[in-house]
Amino acid sequence: MAARWCPPPTSVRTAIPGPEWTRTMDGDRHREAPAAAVTARYTEAMRRALTLAARGPARSENPQVGCVVLSPLGETLAEGWHRGVGTAHAEADALAHLAPGAAAGSTVVVTLEPCNHTGRTGPCTEALSAAGVARVVYASDDPSPNAAGGAARLRAAGVEVIGGVLREEAQTLLGEWLFAAQHGRPRVTLKWAMSIDARAAAADGTSQWITGNTARTDGHRRRGQHDAIAVGIGTILADDPALTARDERGALLDEQPIPVVFGTRTVPANAAVTRHPHRPVTMTGHDLLSDMSELKARGIRSLYVEGGPRLQTAFLRAGVVDEVLVYIAPLLLGGPNLAIGDLGPTTLDEAFALEFVRVERIGTDVLLIAHPRSAAIGSSPDIPTTGPARKGR
Ligand SMILES: NC(=O)c1ccc[n+]([C@@H]2O[C@H](COP(=O)([O-])OP(=O)(O)OC[C@H]3O[C@@H](n4cnc5c(N)ncnc54)[C@H](OP(=O)(O)O)[C@@H]3O)[C@@H](O)[C@H]2O)c1
Repeated sequence: MAARWCPPPTSVRTAIPGPEWTRTMDGDRHREAPAAAVTARYTEAMRRALTLAARGPARSENPQVGCVVLSPLGETLAEGWHRGVGTAHAEADALAHLAPGAAAGSTVVVTLEPCNHTGRTGPCTEALSAAGVARVVYASDDPSPNAAGGAARLRAAGVEVIGGVLREEAQTLLGEWLFAAQHGRPRVTLKWAMSIDARAAAADGTSQWITGNTARTDGHRRRGQHDAIAVGIGTILADDPALTARDERGALLDEQPIPVVFGTRTVPANAAVTRHPHRPVTMTGHDLLSDMSELKARGIRSLYVEGGPRLQTAFLRAGVVDEVLVYIAPLLLGGPNLAIGDLGPTTLDEAFALEFVRVERIGTDVLLIAHPRSAAIGSSPDIPTTGPARKGR
């Protein structure tokens, strides 16, 4: 039985969207209600919507979204969530449980700003206005260029809109979907292991294993935290990596990144990567910007690039790197096999500038984590800045 709830006093309700509380969130796209006017009932319903959202697929082109429809008295009328590409959005799923006209005057509580575009399904903004919804309460803005603007469109249609309720929780759930939606590509982490003198391989090409067991286990754990793992065909041919995420005993971790191989040369039929739990994706165009869009379209939101030097250099040159992870082994190798090739700059002022976000001893090795100074990470107040790793998928 849903708890009964009384709406806030009129004086509070009418005050909610007033311009004196306007806060620019994303190019002045929406107004945020003052905390005092966000009722406990909306917050409670939003928590439930977040729980519903988590039932949707975590690895998909589309976000996990949940929705609760409240009557004017605050009773739960319907619930819904998004089950993945091609299925109803959470709002439509919830409304579909109601008889025609039953949503009139209701409050729709939804974890993501209702979409404003026609994709495989119609715009949620239209469905909500057509259903006569009086108020929409949402958690996170939708940064997708094609879907954004839902709040403004609802307001223009006379629907009261309150944004930002449990925003942080929603953004934690959405994770790198938000980054990919905003930037049109996965979040990219470059990882390599090298000697102190920055060699990724010995003169004969051998590079397995430059670092010790602890660093390797750490690297595997991070593999499992990304949607996809990438190497160039040069690494496939030289090292025959399995590109799986494994524990210290060699057992497969629960989460396996999709293997992606860049290059025009063919992956040998007996290569270890062909036995990966996921079918390998090959990228042959030598156009990283378009490759990144394609990976995003496949639902890949985070990409862990493990080399080799040619591919890493190409990513840096293309400007699509958000994080650099370097494991440094206490070795001096000398020779020609530098971890990174020619990046373009010929003078110090033009160097690719990074800042360290972590430096740690890891077994016998050292791990450096750095972000490009001009990276997209953290540049938007709407995007979480909590490092590469999120688990629980
Ligand atoms: N220490 C480490 O962390 C580490 C990691 C990996 C590898 N390695 C070592 O690195 C060596 C292999 O180095 P590598 O540089 O040849 O390997 P790589 O970077 O894995 O492969 C390079 C190849 O990738 C293809 N490619 C696809 N798209 C590209 C793009 N946009 N830009 C550039 N290349 C693209 C090209 O092949 P096509 O010409 O066929 O298109 C290119 O020749 C081996 O010795 C391996 O052991 C070390």
